[in-house]
Amino acid sequence: VAQNVYDDPEFFAAYARLDRSVHGLDGAPEWPTLRAMLPAPAGLRVVDLGCGYGWACRWAAEEGAASVLGLDLSEQMLARARTDTPQGMRITYRRADLDHVELDAGAFDVAYSSLALHYLTDLPRLLGVVHAALVPGASFVFSVEHPLRTAPSHPAFVDGPDGTPVWPLDRYLVERPVTVDWLAPGVVKQHRTIATYVTGLLDAGFALERLVEFRPSDEQLAARPDWAEELDRPSFLLVAARRA
Ligand SMILES: C[S@@+](CC[C@H](N)C(=O)[O-])C[C@H]1O[C@@H](n2cnc3c(N)ncnc32)[C@H](O)[C@@H]1O
Repeated sequence: VAQNVYDDPEFFAAYARLDRSVHGLDGAPEWPTLRAMLPAPAGLRVVDLGCGYGWACRWAAEEGAASVLGLDLSEQMLARARTDTPQGMRITYRRADLDHVELDAGAFDVAYSSLALHYLTDLPRLLGVVHAALVPGASFVFSVEHPLRTAPSHPAFVDGPDGTPVWPLDRYLVERPVTVDWLAPGVVKQHRTIATYVTGLLDAGFALERLVEFRPSDEQLAARPDWAEELDRPSFLLVAARRA
């Protein structure tokens, strides 16, 4: 059973204070890179898996998507998405657990997911459902928390021998649920290797098109020097695949 920590009041309040919650896509440093991996949504039927506040749903609708379906487990995230979405946009929000979701065959031209799939316990099932829900040639573009972040048994920078902070990588090949204190105690994520994401896609029948370990641009680093830690330990794995 999925954890649904986004409906926990303490977590939800803390999430609302994140840059990406306040500023939306402009507050997500990886968004320009992810957007460039997406097809232009004009005229396409889009599904957003784990849509959260619906920022990407509204972007796709504004870009002329024929329809957008935003799915999320959290009632509170969906309530916020509905509040923030102007009347008349071609967006439907629906509550769904991505570990159990059913989608109609061939119902979508693009599937998108930002930072949700690392919560799922049954990734192969979801990949199969998405594959069947896409028309041949359609794109599946997603981001997940980078496995270098979810692997360590103690995921926090420590002082290295010369006092420089280092990321204590261990347990990389041990796939497992990991429990972290992030915005609230006891948040459960699923640690998987990069190879598992890639072979999962290939096994489901996707062709891999692009895989990006997000690095902030020099301009972003000049504006946000604190993002330099991304060079030691990337936070975002971005993937573009196509239904063969
Ligand atoms: C980090 S937020 C990202 C939200 C949005 N995609 C974005 O990038 O702004 C992760 C989202 O995944 C949703 N989520 C987590 N587990 C889920 C599941 N099993 N089924 C559906 N949604 C889930 C959460 O409720 C949350 O809205």
